[in-house]
Amino acid sequence: MTTAPAERFALRLHKVSKAFGGVQALNKVNFEVRAGEIHCLAGENGCGKSTLIKVVTGVHQPETAELIELFGEKVDRINPVQARQMGVSVIWQDLALFPHMSVAENIAFDSLVGLTPRAVRSRDMMARSKAVLESLGVQLDLAAPLQDLQIAQRQVVAIARALMNDAKLIFMDEPTASLTQSETDRLLDIVRKLSANGVAIVFVSHRLAEVLDIAERVTVVRDGNLVGVYPTAGMTQAHLGELMTGQLIETEVTARDRSDAPTVFAAENLTRHGEFTDVSFQIRAGEVLGLTGLIGAGRTELAHVMMGMRQADGGQMRLNGASYRPSNIRKAIAQGMAYVSEDRLSLGLLQKQPIADNTVISVLRKLTTATGLISERRKAEMVRHWIRELGVKIGSPDDPISTLSGGNQQKVVLAKWLATDPKLLILDSPTVGVDVGARAGIFRIVRALADQGLAILLISDEVTEVMFNADRILHMADGRLVAEYDPRTVTVPELEEHIYA
Ligand SMILES: Nc1ncnc2c1ncn2[C@@H]1O[C@H](COP(=O)(O)OP(=O)(O)OP(=O)(O)O)[C@@H](O)[C@H]1O
Ligand SMILES: [Mg+2]
Repeated sequence: MTTAPAERFALRLHKVSKAFGGVQALNKVNFEVRAGEIHCLAGENGCGKSTLIKVVTGVHQPETAELIELFGEKVDRINPVQARQMGVSVIWQDLALFPHMSVAENIAFDSLVGLTPRAVRSRDMMARSKAVLESLGVQLDLAAPLQDLQIAQRQVVAIARALMNDAKLIFMDEPTASLTQSETDRLLDIVRKLSANGVAIVFVSHRLAEVLDIAERVTVVRDGNLVGVYPTAGMTQAHLGELMTGQLIETEVTARDRSDAPTVFAAENLTRHGEFTDVSFQIRAGEVLGLTGLIGAGRTELAHVMMGMRQADGGQMRLNGASYRPSNIRKAIAQGMAYVSEDRLSLGLLQKQPIADNTVISVLRKLTTATGLISERRKAEMVRHWIRELGVKIGSPDDPISTLSGGNQQKVVLAKWLATDPKLLILDSPTVGVDVGARAGIFRIVRALADQGLAILLISDEVTEVMFNADRILHMADGRLVAEYDPRTVTVPELEEHIYA
């Protein structure tokens, strides 16, 4: 890998500030990225990472900025078009692609805009798109509609589009949040290749192992303030977590023996063709049962059957001793089931509604007074309670949920389900996009809920997450439960070897 001379910068920001109402999202922050460097931007949910990206790309104008310099050139008021013309691209979390257009059209999109139809030559477009994909070492069907592609492939399309625009500085805002381990590895390879070709990458991720693996340097931001810039060589995850949160993040096995407690949920030879086979397990009151394995092992499908969102083809389920076979999710919830899904954007929240309404939506009935109206006072109380319990960082409960940072949205999803007062809580990859400090907070709450007798199924592909937070760990592979582990007697490397082998 070639390292650019220290004096060549892709980006320099000095003392940039940006506020939203009462929230100081960025406070006199400095940020510098060298040409061709892979630089991580790290910090807790809501610390200002996405805001910084939006300032550089002209989506937001800063209130004050001493200097904004791109590729050695000072810029005053930058707008998104100008930023793109200068060679800055962003791969947003939602990717900003066009699902109905083909792969090739998506890649070439920006170069098509502004051309007369006559000038849009399909063959040219195909050839250029193909060349860009080849430079990334990927093969995709260029004529396929984008909606047929997996999320990882769409990400490649978004990157290819940036390269078509001759991007020299690419921001990636949590690009690996929805990727499997092998897809992540492939993306990181592409990032390294881009860097070797002189493209600077600013990478945002809450997976600290990945941050330390990919980046040369990391800039840490806390509550809109710069904490510092650090080389990643020799840095540990624990230290980085401490810099981000200002606290020591403890990781210790919390497993306890619940074998004497009554069984809340049981699956017996549960089968759904093509998804999972002969799955049998029990969850006891007060128990956190971890379920891990590679994505695609059938874990989410199993959760969907437990929630009545799909039906099993064989076997049976029991809830509190009685036969349980919900025909839809509403019936499952009515019987005391709750489900925090991995996909907060499509299943969890009403993006345009206020935070307060999102938090209480599942419990509206409980808040209804004798006259059938929602008690505003009780609503406000409940919202305040959960916002405080989960440490959700917000301006006002009446703001739309879309103004919250990603991780804070996830906490609202959790609050929403906890407010239903469930018997069994399924957490499906609950910390995707959630920062280390908030993860610790969420799991403290999970443990406290278990101690009150709640049964919890914790689905996660992060080995450390089940290791430190579950009482028992089930390993699922190719739709079957293949092993059970006790976190008190197995180690993280051993578990990783079993799962990734
Ligand atoms: N359009 C907006 N209107 C109001 N407040 C906003 C807006 N965008 C961001 N904020 C607030 O600014 C702060 C910084 O948000 P930002 O999205 O930059 O955080 P982040 O570091 O990207 O967090 P995450 O890791 O959760 O994505 C948060 O308190 C957020 O609620
Ligand atoms: Mg963000």
